[in-house]
Amino acid sequence: MVKDTSVLLEEKRVFKANYRIVEEAHVKNWEAEIEKGKDPVSYWAEKAEQFEWFKKWDKVLDESKKPFYKWFTKGKINLSYNAVDRWVSSDKRNQVAVLYANEHGEERKLTYYELYREVNKMANALKNLGVKKGDTVSMYLPMCTELLVSMLACTRIGAVHSVVYSGLSVGAFVERMNDANAKVLITADGTYRRGKIIDLKKIADEALLQCPTIETVVVVKHTGNPIKISELSGREIFYETLIDGESDDCPVEEMDAEDPLFILYTSGSTGKPKGVLHTTAGYMVGVATTLKNIFDIHNGDLWWCTGDVGWITGHSYSIYGPLLLGTTTLIYEGAPDYPDPGAWWNIVEKYGVTKFYTAPTAIRHLMRYGSKYPNLYNLSSLKIMGSVGEPMNPEAWMWLYNKVGKTKIPIMDTWWQTETGMHMISPLPISPLKPGTPTLPIPGVDADVVDENGNSVPLGKGGYLVIKKPWPAMFRTLYKDEERFVDSYWKEIPGGVYNAGDIARKDEDGYIWIQGRSDDVLNIAGHRVGTSEVESAFVSHPAVAECAVIGKSDPIKGHVIKSFVILKEGYTLNTNLIEDLQKHVRYELGPVAVLGEIKQVDQLPKTRSGKIMRRILRAQEEGEDLGDTSTLED
Ligand code: WT7
Repeated sequence: MVKDTSVLLEEKRVFKANYRIVEEAHVKNWEAEIEKGKDPVSYWAEKAEQFEWFKKWDKVLDESKKPFYKWFTKGKINLSYNAVDRWVSSDKRNQVAVLYANEHGEERKLTYYELYREVNKMANALKNLGVKKGDTVSMYLPMCTELLVSMLACTRIGAVHSVVYSGLSVGAFVERMNDANAKVLITADGTYRRGKIIDLKKIADEALLQCPTIETVVVVKHTGNPIKISELSGREIFYETLIDGESDDCPVEEMDAEDPLFILYTSGSTGKPKGVLHTTAGYMVGVATTLKNIFDIHNGDLWWCTGDVGWITGHSYSIYGPLLLGTTTLIYEGAPDYPDPGAWWNIVEKYGVTKFYTAPTAIRHLMRYGSKYPNLYNLSSLKIMGSVGEPMNPEAWMWLYNKVGKTKIPIMDTWWQTETGMHMISPLPISPLKPGTPTLPIPGVDADVVDENGNSVPLGKGGYLVIKKPWPAMFRTLYKDEERFVDSYWKEIPGGVYNAGDIARKDEDGYIWIQGRSDDVLNIAGHRVGTSEVESAFVSHPAVAECAVIGKSDPIKGHVIKSFVILKEGYTLNTNLIEDLQKHVRYELGPVAVLGEIKQVDQLPKTRSGKIMRRILRAQEEGEDLGDTSTLED
């Protein structure tokens, strides 16, 4: 709840790190690190020293054109060089850099040296296709090694990549490719999805009819799906043919710290998708530092982030973060419950995953099958787990903590966004944890909860989540739309702060509880109520697996809460259960929880990254236009 009336749902228990975690931790003294972070300029400058620079920066932070901040100005650096070459000339040369696995039990491993050779070949091949520094290359690929190689090849030669999630439909794909003016498209013969092969080339062909800027289409043979390419036209070529015979030595482009690195589209609730633009050096510093400290990356780790590379999670933490730290990253192509709900736990056991990073939607999904599946596997290799994407319901947190982590493993609930590029609010492994909150801003980040005038709100009270000082991995603009960049994020709240678009509340320890997107906020008899706590209250009832709530217009109350619930196996929504749910939620949240209709559904509208799209439910209820549905799953 945004109002202080009701904080009952808050899980009061605090989980402290055990001595093994503390012994290993890179950051052992949280207060000291926070103190250092109070001066972001010196803090991030120190972190930037971990890389090899071709030329050091003149100025750490240039604030002369707010909110168009610049970091490490005049510095020269290359991401690909720091993520690959640097390790080839170290004792990590023959260490596995990337381990690909899929739902059929197949795998492919590339050592840093093998990765180096393939990236260089691909970089040369792209150059031969006429790709130059600053050109955009689009990718519509499954999780596969070629995707990673192609991204690193782009950053090696200074091309800007724009990855389009392989689950998006033709329309969404066309819009993104045209907006980015992509010159080359890299796609594949297919992707595995729950035992089937989805023909990506066919979707790409359809999209390409409407994409005039694409000069070449590169096709990865990934699934063995027999596809036709028209080699004669000279526009289409297989990836393996393209790199065959290329030299494995391609000079590295010395990039300016602020040169564009990639564009990644994220859907706005209205209007066309936003092309979030990230630049080079600050992004590198932000993602490497956060991954290292929050997930305590050490030699010997096997890092697994389940996020698809089509989303920022995959960019920052499946690929760039782990490679910049010289660790081994596992990329997996497959659903959490195919061929059975033990699929992911099987991967953890089989490869000995040490750090596991996933999303609340996956956990809630796996929770439905109970503890049977995690119990079938030996998960003792795990040391730290994490989550991102939505508020972690305390119920889901406890399940992960008890059933997967066997009460020994800390969970890093990380709050961040496509726009922030890196983790912003998160515990460190040594932090005392409370289920359901990402705890506190990380060292070097200044976040707060404020009212519409930009003043901090008292503890317990709801408000807007803002970031008060610039941070290195921040997006620099919306591609080709500076006006929208300023209007959407920097204008509404006074004081020059970044408005994240979320509402939140701080508890008595200053821990930040995310209430949901401000677009989704409910207004009940004058009280602003976040969606998240109402949904968590529902999910904490034994009958409910998942829930979404919206505010339905009501002439007297403003809004009444309409709830959509997915029930666990064996439950039906009869009058008794409805009454019980009403009592339960009221007990958890207090009288502000004015519940209207509770509706049982089999599915909730979600984005392909697993976020519940409440505005679709709302539009349906109010009989309005559904708006941009390009990222809707079904
Ligand atoms: C929005 C950003 C999928 C990659 C990361 C998300 C929500 C994210 C948390 C969290 C509560 C969270 C916020 C945020 N969100 N992490 N730990 N607890 N809410 O990137 O697609 O740009 O979405 O996701 O509402 O604003 P994104």
